[in-house]
Amino acid sequence: MKKVLVTGADGFIGSHLVETLVRAGMEVRALCQYNSFSSWGWLDRSEFAGQFEVVLGDVRDPAQMRHVTKGVDTVFHLAALIAIPYSYQAPSSYVDTNVGGTLNLLQGALDNGVERFIQTSTSEVYGTARFVPISEEHPLQAQSPYSASKIGSDAMAYSFHASFDMPVVIARPFNTYGPRQSARAVIPTVITQLLSGKRALKLGALSPTRDFNFVQDTCDGFLALATSQGCVGQTVNIGSGTEISIGDTVELIAKIVGVDVEIECDEQRLRPAASEVERLCCDNRLIKSLTGFQPRFSLEDGLRATIDWLRVPDNLSRYKADIFNV
Ligand SMILES: NC(=O)c1ccc[n+]([C@@H]2O[C@H](COP(=O)([O-])OP(=O)(O)OC[C@H]3O[C@@H](n4cnc5c(N)ncnc54)[C@H](O)[C@@H]3O)[C@@H](O)[C@H]2O)c1
Repeated sequence: MKKVLVTGADGFIGSHLVETLVRAGMEVRALCQYNSFSSWGWLDRSEFAGQFEVVLGDVRDPAQMRHVTKGVDTVFHLAALIAIPYSYQAPSSYVDTNVGGTLNLLQGALDNGVERFIQTSTSEVYGTARFVPISEEHPLQAQSPYSASKIGSDAMAYSFHASFDMPVVIARPFNTYGPRQSARAVIPTVITQLLSGKRALKLGALSPTRDFNFVQDTCDGFLALATSQGCVGQTVNIGSGTEISIGDTVELIAKIVGVDVEIECDEQRLRPAASEVERLCCDNRLIKSLTGFQPRFSLEDGLRATIDWLRVPDNLSRYKADIFNV
């Protein structure tokens, strides 16, 4: 692996992955979504600017995806629409971006003889756990249009492996958090409200559990899957194997920030009952056995790093703590 393409490079995980790959000595092409401001998202502020190539584009365009996959040996495909509430409002965009966009990347990568294609899945495809920890054998349950679109894009990626012998790995991260995560996710929602001085927090459901992973651990998992033998054609979970409720996570954040909080239930943040994923906890034995991967950050350490980053006024000012960010 020498020359790599990262899609979704302007976003939360993608920008950290670009930096991880640059640090590992790779030549990185970063695909950021085209916009008229020439914004590279979080990469605008990267300390590694100048050490990676940036291409602005759109995964929905097949000709362009054929072009950007030229001359790279590995593709990390992270570009996607990922917000669950927004997927209730605009499901068709999710099919176009997540399923159609993945198809365009796969076809381009196949035509250009890419040596490894890392498809980014999500633990959301499992829906509410029927057993824990959740292994890769767990049934898939499309409890939101987002989840359905990721099930579709994973299936498209697998089909390119089965049909064309394409070297595809389906990486399935569990919930990831850390600096730069979008405001729609629960951990930045809680921290930004607290750091903006609020003590009565507006939140949705508190009982669901999640397996939270610090973003550097998730990036290390991607790198491990891209560089290890034995992963091709497989779906592999990336997660810590720990489980905590949203309510307990809020209490832990409040303890680290050093404040007492009250929680107000904000009806608009509640998901329809059958759509809410009640329980997620990762079985990470497969990635450990294939790659030797080991998460390095405890939840408390990762939350401290995230809170410290958000304490920087310039970082906090990029979040709208007073509204429900869909
Ligand atoms: N954040 C999590 O907890 C989590 C967990 C599991 C899997 N994932 C997956 O990881 C990937 C990255 O997620 P993230 O949390 O960094 O989200 P993000 O929204 O920060 O990043 C996604 C990026 O994709 C880009 N994008 C969207 N539509 C595009 C298009 N049409 N063309 C080009 N680029 C486009 C966006 O600009 C955005 O920066 C996604 O595939 C997501 O499904 C995320």
